[in-house]
Amino acid sequence: MTNPVLETISKRQSIRSYRPDPIPRDLIQAIIEAGNQAPARGRMKEGSSNLDFQPWRFVVVEDADLKRKLVETTLPFWKNMTASMKDSHPDMYAGIMAQFEAMPEPKDMVYYAAPAIVFVIGPKGFDISCSLACENMMIAATSLGLGSCYVGFGAMVTGNTCVVEALELQEDEKIFGPILLGYPCGEQGTLDSIRTEKAPPSIKWM
Ligand SMILES: Cc1cc2nc3c(=O)[nH]c(=O)nc-3n(C[C@H](O)[C@H](O)[C@H](O)COP(=O)(O)O)c2cc1C
Repeated sequence: MTNPVLETISKRQSIRSYRPDPIPRDLIQAIIEAGNQAPARGRMKEGSSNLDFQPWRFVVVEDADLKRKLVETTLPFWKNMTASMKDSHPDMYAGIMAQFEAMPEPKDMVYYAAPAIVFVIGPKGFDISCSLACENMMIAATSLGLGSCYVGFGAMVTGNTCVVEALELQEDEKIFGPILLGYPCGEQGTLDSIRTEKAPPSIKWM
């Protein structure tokens, strides 16, 4: 069985090489609005008697200087993780390092030089709700011809005061994603080429 929504869901895949072309703002807006439609756990908000079902907020980073700071902050985490693969997965390590060496400065192996990085920010304890918003955004991006990727490494920015201030990240908040957005580049990077087909789901019918 198929329909446009099911087709879009199965077409979505993590994209790790992007064209530098900027994304029209109305597309990013539409993607964020799709995130905003996600189901969420209700929370009481100070000064309101109604439950709030939109715990998230979104920060879109397109600025080159801020992106450079993001890369400088997160790349050491990436390097540590990659080094740990050297003995356990030597072939994969060699492929990733070849991609790293070939990359122009700044060597952005975390955000893959995506033209837009969308930080989904929500209160601690709202992980499921905010993650659902992220998935809606990635499906919406696919439907609009854009590539996307959820990059957990990209959230490791809390050690950089300057970035924390730019994101206006509060003590009780957490980053989800960020979600990379951009037009997929024709050429696949090493990381794209290691993608495997999804195995059929494990289902128990009762
Ligand atoms: C919580 C989470 C964290 C992830 N972090 C990263 C990351 O830091 N870098 C990356 O390239 N991909 C990251 N991914 C993407 C996964 O690698 C990807 O979803 C997985 O390989 C399945 O491939 P697909 O998205 O193409 O179906 C992350 C995905 C999730 C859900």
